[in-house]
Amino acid sequence: MQSYAESLRLQGKKISFVPTMGYFHEGHLALMREAKKMADCLVVSIFVNPTQFGPKEDLSKYPRDFERDSQMAQSVGVDVIFFPSNQEMYPENYQTYVNVEKVTQNLCGLSRPGHFRGVTTICTKLFNIVKPHVTVFGKKDFQQFIGIKRMITDLNLDIHIIGLPTVREADGLAMSSRNVYLKANERPSALQLVASLKLAQKLYDNGERKSAAIMDEVIKLIKSAPYTDIDYVKICDTNTIADIDIIAGEAVISLAVKVGSTRLIDNHVFGEKLNA
Ligand code: PAF
Repeated sequence: MQSYAESLRLQGKKISFVPTMGYFHEGHLALMREAKKMADCLVVSIFVNPTQFGPKEDLSKYPRDFERDSQMAQSVGVDVIFFPSNQEMYPENYQTYVNVEKVTQNLCGLSRPGHFRGVTTICTKLFNIVKPHVTVFGKKDFQQFIGIKRMITDLNLDIHIIGLPTVREADGLAMSSRNVYLKANERPSALQLVASLKLAQKLYDNGERKSAAIMDEVIKLIKSAPYTDIDYVKICDTNTIADIDIIAGEAVISLAVKVGSTRLIDNHVFGEKLNA
């Protein structure tokens, strides 16, 4: 992959890159379609990265289907699928990690210790292998997007990063490979996430600016649905990902909720369009 990327660069070709953990859905395809427009060669990686999963998380049961993924990738014109093994990415004696500090500490950084260290490490490795000019990420993982953006700036990586809005199912549920874990009777509860984001925007539209007041209503709505267990509901500054008490500048409301045994995340930047 690395020498192929180098040969493309020597020919003056532009490389775009979408890193993924596979099990594609329409959200991944939207990233690929956008990335396709921006380059001569679109590379997609599929790698379920063990270093971003905690010991009690779903690494072994994370859904995988390479055949299906490769057909879907072909349908949107992906030129190269980079599909490395664990052994290639983390050979014996591997011991180097990349850590972005402040913006990864709140939200999922609190509930998934080590998660972002795994994400920023694998992304650095993938960037060094694929050598992209441009990379496209989804904003459903808002904190991840901000963390990678920070890392690209801080480490002077010569990569242009683009974030795309969350793609949703017809019923509003944010697309995620983990949605396949949801049981039919849990789906209405999962929909309370997007409903609560809409409620938050409505309260904001009505002039509410106190984070606590908005979060209280959101928590009440989510708790009213069965099978839900809130990990966090927080309102943060979109650049620093620090909690804010009063919404003055650009703010994001982020949710992590377990529905049954499936942990779902979603978010909404106040004032932006909610595609649901
Ligand atoms: O968002 C994901 O799917 C993963 O965190 C990523 C960016 C591919 C790194 O493993």
